[in-house]
Amino acid sequence: MEITQNQNTVRERGVIDRVQHLASEANPAFATGSIIVPLTVLAISVVLQSPQLLFYTHVAAGAVWFGFALIFPAVIGPALGGLDDENTIAVTTQLTPKLVFFILGFSFTTVLSGTVLLTTEWGLGYGFSGLWSSASLGLGWGLFFFGLVVPNRIHLQAYYESRSEKPDFDRLAAIEKRNALIGIVEAIAMLGIIFLMTGLRLG
Ligand code: HEM
Repeated sequence: MEITQNQNTVRERGVIDRVQHLASEANPAFATGSIIVPLTVLAISVVLQSPQLLFYTHVAAGAVWFGFALIFPAVIGPALGGLDDENTIAVTTQLTPKLVFFILGFSFTTVLSGTVLLTTEWGLGYGFSGLWSSASLGLGWGLFFFGLVVPNRIHLQAYYESRSEKPDFDRLAAIEKRNALIGIVEAIAMLGIIFLMTGLRLG
């Protein structure tokens, strides 16, 4: 029992330490702002019960998330592939901590605002039922958690490998390939979401 507790404490401390490390590398103000600013705008729209501000927040946050999901595999990944090892490491270590917080803030705001938009009377009030609504909720939240568990973890693997004393460049190249593949899958799912979004009204 004691051993399990100790193990849990260590694991929990591990996660907190890692988040603190990433936040300090990203710049704590940037890390906090990336999450707090979009969520505050969402909170204001809820307090004011303003469907306009809520819808605006949803589309704006979704556009940022969608943009990253496309630009990464299509532009930044291949550009990194064209750099030499030293520069790849410099870019990866600078970019990853900021990216983790930025994408977390905007993706969470997108799915949360979409859910409020869909389900509240003062929002658009489509409710939970109906094929388009359930599909949007399922794919939207599915993509959010997938993002946390898969691409996020791959980015962090590349980051920690880059920061290790002797980075293994073969491993980094393998991670980069996996990243590109996942990026393509994610981009296709994003295009599917946009199909669902337009179908909510027209479908
Ligand atoms: C939990 C997930 C989501 C839910 C419940 C949701 C819900 C909604 C709702 C109710 C609308 C209004 C539709 C209408 O005009 O009648 C909407 C519009 C929109 N959503 Fe989402 N959404 C989700 C995720 C996303 C994601 C991940 C993106 C982009 C990456 C996105 C982008 C958009 C866009 C661009 C519109 C405007 C389209 C239009 O007005 O027809 N949404 N969403």
